[in-house]
Amino acid sequence: MRHPEDRYPPTRTPGPASTRLVEPSANPVTPTEAGLREDPWVNGDRLTSAEYTEFIHAQTAVGPTPFVPEVQLHLAAEAFELWERTERELGGSDTPPPFWAFAWAGGQALARYVLDHPAVVAGRRVLDVAAGSGLVAIAAASSGALRVQASEIDRFAVTAISLNAAINAVSVTAELRDVLDGDGLDAEVVLAGDVFYERPMAARVLPMLSRARARGARVLVGDPGRMYLPRARFTALAEYEVPVVAALEDTEVKTSTVWELTT
Ligand SMILES: C[S@@+](CC[C@H](N)C(=O)[O-])C[C@H]1O[C@@H](n2cnc3c(N)ncnc32)[C@H](O)[C@@H]1O
Repeated sequence: MRHPEDRYPPTRTPGPASTRLVEPSANPVTPTEAGLREDPWVNGDRLTSAEYTEFIHAQTAVGPTPFVPEVQLHLAAEAFELWERTERELGGSDTPPPFWAFAWAGGQALARYVLDHPAVVAGRRVLDVAAGSGLVAIAAASSGALRVQASEIDRFAVTAISLNAAINAVSVTAELRDVLDGDGLDAEVVLAGDVFYERPMAARVLPMLSRARARGARVLVGDPGRMYLPRARFTALAEYEVPVVAALEDTEVKTSTVWELTT
């Protein structure tokens, strides 16, 4: 049975007129699960570097992150219009949601925790997996991390992370890189905000986080009760009431937990 709060990821019925949130299939089977490898990069190499930047500037406004106001991000006001504009810009219809233009509940909780507990990352090598806007990576860099890498498979996200790091005057290396088959590079702390939203993603993220922990990294996750988080593997460190985009989550606040992978 689906977690009652799980309305995620945002999916649409086809066509602009019928755009709305619908429940994703409870058991999506992807080519990856079926044993085929998809090209992991999304939205890549279709525009010039300057065009990715121009698009982000045109479609977002810089403002404080609701639960982490000390971090400024390029944020979009409306998800589905931006999603459609992205598809028009790229001339395709297979683009994923513009995750990079929003601060997801799990990422906001994790960024809050890192900023309020800087010792977790201070002086350490940090990896933000599936970084989206780069919010968690920016929080780590602001908290004194020795070095922060942010990995993403969405070309828009990689551009947004760099732009967002710049406006917060911190150094983050944004990489178009799928690290989920590895063990977290050489990071001493691996951070993951809101990554347990669908089964195929969870099926790759959890083993990667486990491998990182097995080699000695500290692994922290921010999660607002997504369906595919295996809670028994984690220990709760903090819980917050996080403001979210109501059109994406069907609520204005989501109780979100910062978890540490402990088994
Ligand atoms: C819900 S968003 C979370 C973004 C951010 N961590 C936050 O909390 O705001 C999930 C992100 O995972 C990214 N993603 C999906 N598969 C990935 C992979 N294999 N490697 C890196 N990022 C991935 C997506 O592009 C998307 O930006």
